[in-house]
Amino acid sequence: MDGVMKLIRNRHSDRVPFDETRKIADHDLSQILEAGRWAPTAHNMQNFQIVVVDDRILLSAIGAISRPISEVFVRENYQQLSFSEEELAKRKVGLLGTMFPSYMRNPEAAIPPKGMPTMPAPVLLFVLYDPRRRAPASEGDFLGIMSIGCVMENMWLVADSLEIGFHVVSSMSAPQVAREIKNILDIPEPLQIAFACRLGYPAVPQGKYLRVRRDIEDFAHRNRFGAAFQSKR
Ligand SMILES: Cc1cc2nc3c(=O)[nH]c(=O)nc-3n(C[C@H](O)[C@H](O)[C@H](O)COP(=O)(O)O)c2cc1C
Repeated sequence: MDGVMKLIRNRHSDRVPFDETRKIADHDLSQILEAGRWAPTAHNMQNFQIVVVDDRILLSAIGAISRPISEVFVRENYQQLSFSEEELAKRKVGLLGTMFPSYMRNPEAAIPPKGMPTMPAPVLLFVLYDPRRRAPASEGDFLGIMSIGCVMENMWLVADSLEIGFHVVSSMSAPQVAREIKNILDIPEPLQIAFACRLGYPAVPQGKYLRVRRDIEDFAHRNRFGAAFQSKR
């Protein structure tokens, strides 16, 4: 139990450059895929495909795609930023402003660039959502999206346990970018890129950064919503 809790608590995002000379061994990639394979999915529909990209030419073609900066992201992200560790520790939600480039920390003053490059990685994983594998009576497929989240978490935990950095890059599933990636990787319709992530060994140790969470009493209720959950232990 302690081991599982430790793994869950230590899992983190590696928003760092990866060592491009250090490949990820196939048996480690297979373990990560095995973790995805055993993820729970609604009605056991296993509504996903995964493309593992480790070919240098494909990696650089994908890396060269400019990921447009979403104005909505910049605006809404700004509202969630904290500007000191004390503020973040108090808010318990969101991220530190220092994790973002200056145009995101002061969107009124700065002019954002047109697009962002993707930091290189020895492996990119594309997890594809297959809408044809929808659980019965799940119009809108909320259950299917949750299932993909389970795949993500399983793979992330195993990657972390192997000390392989894992960095989700949501802007790779934005429609315009996803279209280009689907072309490069021959991904057919109706599959959609649910999420993409960079995998690799951090080139430099990631400096410690403050990771916060709400306390249990901020979200847990006992018996009726609004009634405090107090641990009996
Ligand atoms: C569905 C999903 C999408 C995410 N998209 C991004 C992303 O585009 N870029 C990024 O740096 N982190 C992304 N993350 C990572 C979260 O920002 C991160 O998990 C959260 O801030 C908590 O930090 P931790 O992973 O270090 O615990 C995503 C996470 C999830 C679950």
